[in-house]
Amino acid sequence: MPAISIDRTLRRVSIDARDPAFYRDPLAAYAEIHAQCPAFFWEERQQWYFAGYDLVNALLRDRRFGRQILHVATRDELGLPLPKPHLKDFDALEAHSLLELEPPAHTRLRTLVNRAFVSRQIEQLRPDIEQLSHALIDSFADDGEVELLKSFAETLPVTIIARMLGIPVEAAPDLLDWSHRMVRMYVFNPSYETELDANQASADFADYLRGIIAEKCRTPADDLLTHMITSEKDGERLSEAELVSTTALLLNAGHEATVHQIGNAVKTILQSGLPAKDLFATETATALTVEECLRFAAPLHIFQRYALSDIELDEGVTLRKGDKIGLLLGAANVDPKKFTGPNAFRPTRDEGANVSFGAGLHFCIGAPLARLELNLALPILFQRLPNMRLKNEPEVKDAFHFHGLERLDLVW
Ligand code: HEM
Repeated sequence: MPAISIDRTLRRVSIDARDPAFYRDPLAAYAEIHAQCPAFFWEERQQWYFAGYDLVNALLRDRRFGRQILHVATRDELGLPLPKPHLKDFDALEAHSLLELEPPAHTRLRTLVNRAFVSRQIEQLRPDIEQLSHALIDSFADDGEVELLKSFAETLPVTIIARMLGIPVEAAPDLLDWSHRMVRMYVFNPSYETELDANQASADFADYLRGIIAEKCRTPADDLLTHMITSEKDGERLSEAELVSTTALLLNAGHEATVHQIGNAVKTILQSGLPAKDLFATETATALTVEECLRFAAPLHIFQRYALSDIELDEGVTLRKGDKIGLLLGAANVDPKKFTGPNAFRPTRDEGANVSFGAGLHFCIGAPLARLELNLALPILFQRLPNMRLKNEPEVKDAFHFHGLERLDLVW
């Protein structure tokens, strides 16, 4: 159990997000938080956080909050520091990222990419995902052991999203490298070295994408990137900067969380001791297993929002315009008011949706794709390697936001 101190009356919680006992198993701390104060001021972070399922779900949809604040106030008004010059290229990519925008800019971009991600479109990828899963397993099935993240979990989603966009699959190692270096920014207080490295990765990634976009303009193809280049909304096309940002976001978001979720799911299932043949007996059983893995071992535990005005919440929390709040998706998924015995992995439970893909305006556009990948890849993996087991206790990454494994060594 991590060192956690809770002042129930003042609703103040102190917990070190870098404490291995916390990030390895945040569910134990979440249980304490749910029992004592699911809306709390996190001392180390100096802001309010919310853990309750209903409230997290409602705040994700609440239009008084946004992922962006500079569309309603200036830095001066809010006392925000100036942008850091050494993050220029990183910020340039974020500036047009769907994830960081609010309407109307968000609506325009989201409408343009949305069509490619609706379930009907995504369903067509089924044979591709199945075939790729088998091909990857073929490459190590006779070895008797594998490090699953490198040899399977990382390759599958990046290959699928690169193919969808029309980016050469040979670029996958570079895409993974740029993406890993950029997402290190999404931890609490990244170091100067992390910032410099993320900026360099952003510059190289953007350069690469500008080259690909120029090529697609010369030679259009039947892919998502060409669609984004040629689509118009209200007579307007996406600018080059918007195209670069959106493509980078889709490539990064398109694999980072899915990689961790494949790893988390395999570890959870193996440690549960439940027979895989039952968990994946039918499509319905598989879907329930996948959703329970998403609930119990979610890959993304926290997202932030800005208060877009002064707000008084029913919980008696007063927020000033520009204040940030933290929404604990991983904690909402184990709220005992919503899920019975929430800290147990029970794939037969059917108690409603988890919030691992968020909710509202920014609800994960890739959810149908991620779900299809998980619903196909996991049963194939367990059917092909029925004797696989953990070689050792996998190390969890030291990054509270991204709950994933350093590596996942399996033997059979
Ligand atoms: C298990 C896998 C995944 C999980 C758990 C996940 C989770 C999330 C969550 C929680 C958000 C909302 C963030 C917020 O409200 O601030 C989000 C947004 C987003 N995700 Fe995913 N995601 C996954 C896979 C994917 C995939 C495969 C793609 C790509 C194709 C993708 C693309 C996006 C994009 C573009 C957004 C921004 C949407 C917007 O702001 O309108 N995600 N994701």
